[in-house]
Amino acid sequence: MSKKAETFCPDSDVVTGKAFDARLVRRMLAYVRPYRGLFAASIAMVTVVVFLELLQGELVKRIIDGPLKAAVASGDGITGWEQAAGTVATWAGLIAILVVFTAGLRVMQVMWINRVAQRAMRDLRVQVFRHVQKQALRFFDRNPVGRLVTRVVNDVEALSDLLTSGLDAIFHDIFMLAGIVTWLMIVNWRLALVSFVVVPPLMIVTQVFRGASRRAFRRVREKLATVNSTIQETVQGVRVIQSFVQEAKAQRRFESRNRELADAHLSTVANFALFFPLVELLSTIGKATVIWWGARSIGGGDISFGELTQFVFYLELFFRPIRDISEKFNILQGSMASAERLFGLLDREPDLASPADGYAPERLVGEVELRGVTFGYAPDRPVLEDIAFHVKPGETVALVGATGAGKTTVAGLITRLYDVDQGQVLVDGVDVREHELTSLRRGVTVVPQDVFLFAGTVEENLRMGDDSLTHEQIEAACAAVGADRVLRKLPNGLASDVGERGGRLSVGERQLLALARALAQDPAVLVLDEATSSVDSETEHLIQSALERLQEGRTTLVIAHRLSTIRKADRILVFHHGELREQGDHKTLVAADGIYATLHRLQFAA
Ligand SMILES: Nc1ncnc2c1ncn2[C@@H]1O[C@H](COP(=O)(O)OP(=O)(O)OP(=O)(O)O)[C@@H](O)[C@H]1O
Ligand SMILES: [Mg+2]
Repeated sequence: MSKKAETFCPDSDVVTGKAFDARLVRRMLAYVRPYRGLFAASIAMVTVVVFLELLQGELVKRIIDGPLKAAVASGDGITGWEQAAGTVATWAGLIAILVVFTAGLRVMQVMWINRVAQRAMRDLRVQVFRHVQKQALRFFDRNPVGRLVTRVVNDVEALSDLLTSGLDAIFHDIFMLAGIVTWLMIVNWRLALVSFVVVPPLMIVTQVFRGASRRAFRRVREKLATVNSTIQETVQGVRVIQSFVQEAKAQRRFESRNRELADAHLSTVANFALFFPLVELLSTIGKATVIWWGARSIGGGDISFGELTQFVFYLELFFRPIRDISEKFNILQGSMASAERLFGLLDREPDLASPADGYAPERLVGEVELRGVTFGYAPDRPVLEDIAFHVKPGETVALVGATGAGKTTVAGLITRLYDVDQGQVLVDGVDVREHELTSLRRGVTVVPQDVFLFAGTVEENLRMGDDSLTHEQIEAACAAVGADRVLRKLPNGLASDVGERGGRLSVGERQLLALARALAQDPAVLVLDEATSSVDSETEHLIQSALERLQEGRTTLVIAHRLSTIRKADRILVFHHGELREQGDHKTLVAADGIYATLHRLQFAA
C-alpha cells in the first residue's frame, strides 16, 4: 500500500492552501467541456453586461454636459429649462430601459452559468459514486462513512462554487475593474489617479479581514461538524440512550456544542460588522476626495460637471468588487481544497480489481481450496496464519472456533472481498485473483452474520438487482427456507417495506430473508456465517431441513456455533487464534480430545 493511498483523504475538512491552483482548475474545467458552448456564451455575456453597466455612467454624463449645460448656458431662464426637460426625460427613459435590459441579461447569464455548473456537478457526482463503489473493502475499513458522504455530496459542490461564485464573479469583477480604470483614465487621468488613493488602504483592510474571517469560518465549520456528529450519534443510538435513561446527559452535551457553534457564528458576524462600515468609510472618503478635487478642477475648466458625476458613479461600482473580493477569495480557497480532496480520491486505484479477461465459467463447480494463506487487516497483525484446507464440490464443511478466531475472515477471502497477503485461495482450481470478480461473487454467496437489508421492499432485497428472477422463483426461495411465514405476517407480503437497514423486521426474520436471498441466487458455493443464530428452535429446525435441501448439489461452508449443524457436516475445521488446528468429523475430533473436544464440552454440553 503506497503512502499516498493511505492518506488520500485528510481527516480534517479544514480549508487551507491556495485560492487558485491552475492544475486543479484545469481539471475541474474538464467537467465543463461537454457544456463549453453554454459556458463560453455565459462568459461572453458577462462582458456585454459589464459594458452596459458602464454605459449608464456615460449616458448620465451626456445628459449633464449636453441638454442641462446648454439650458444653463442659454440664459433663457424658465423657457430654456422647459425645453431641456423634454430632452432630459427622453434620456432618462433610455437609461431606465438600459438598466432593466442589463438586469435581464444578467439574470439570463446567471441561469446559464448555473445550468453548466449543475450539469457538470451531476456528472462528477456520478463518477465519484461509481469510484467509491469500486473500492475494496479495505478502503471502507479505513474511511469513515461520514467522510465519504462529504466527498460525494459537499466536495462536489466545489465545482459549482468555482464556476458560479468563483470564475463567473471574478470575470465580472475583473472586466468591471479594468473597464472602469480604462474609462476613467481616458476621461481624466489626473482625477482618476486621485480617486485611486483609497485603494491601498482598502486592500490592507480587506487583507486583514480575509485572515480573520478565514479563521472564523474555519471555526464555524469545525463546530458545525461536531454538532452534526452529536446529532447523528444520538439519533442512531437513541435506543441505547433511552434504555439507559441518558437523555438529559445527551441533551447537555448537545447544548454545550450548540452554544459553541452559535459563538463561532457570532464571531464571523462581528467580523463583517466591522468590515463593511470600514469599507463604506474608505469609499466615502474616496468619493469625497474626488468631489473636492473635481470641484476645484471644474473652476479651472479641467473637467465638466458631467464627468465629475460620472466619476462618482463609477467609483460606486469600483468599490463593490473590491469589497466582495475577500469573500470570493474564501469561496475559491474552499473550492480548491475540496477539489484537491476529490481528485485525490478519484486518483486512487482500487486495491482490488477484476482481471481483464478473467475466468468466468457458465457455472462454477464449487471446489474451494486455501493454500498456505496468511492474511491480516492491518499490515503486520496477521489474523490468519498459514491456513490450508480443501473442500470438494458438493461437500459440507463446518468452520468452528472461538469468537475472533478468523472464521468470517475466511469467508471474506473466498469471495475476494480482501486479497490474501501470502498463499492462494482457489475456487475450481483457479486463483480467485484470476476469476472475473462478478462471476466469482455470483457463484459464491455468503449469508452474512450481520444481515444487511436495504430500504425498499422485501422483493427488491431478495432480487438484489437480478431481473432474470421471476416472482415465482422468489416466492419458492422464501418457501424453501421457511421465510414464507415472515411474509405472511407482513402487511403486503413481498411488496412490504423493510425500512432503513431492514429495521422493521426482527433479527431472525432478517436472517430468514437473507437465506432466501442466497437461495434465489442459486450459487455453487454457499457460505453460511452463523446464519441461524437468532431464530427460535422451531424456526431453526425448519431452516435445518431447508439447509439440507439447500446443500444438495452445492458446496457449503457453515460457520456455526450449533452442534446440530456441525454434526451434519462432512468435515469440521477448527480455527484457533488464526490457525487451522484440527480437522475431521465430529467423532474423530471428540476422540482426539483436543480443542474441539474442549469447545464441545464447554459449549454444547447442555
Ligand atoms: N474489518 C476489520 N478490520 C480490522 N480487524 C478486523 C476486521 N474484521 C475482523 N477483524 C479482526 O480479525 C479477527 C478475526 O475476525 P473474524 O470476524 O474473522 O472472527 P470470527 O471468527 O468470525 O469471530 P465471530 O465468531 O465473533 O464471528 C478479529 O480479531 C477481529 O478483531
Ligand atoms: Mg464471524
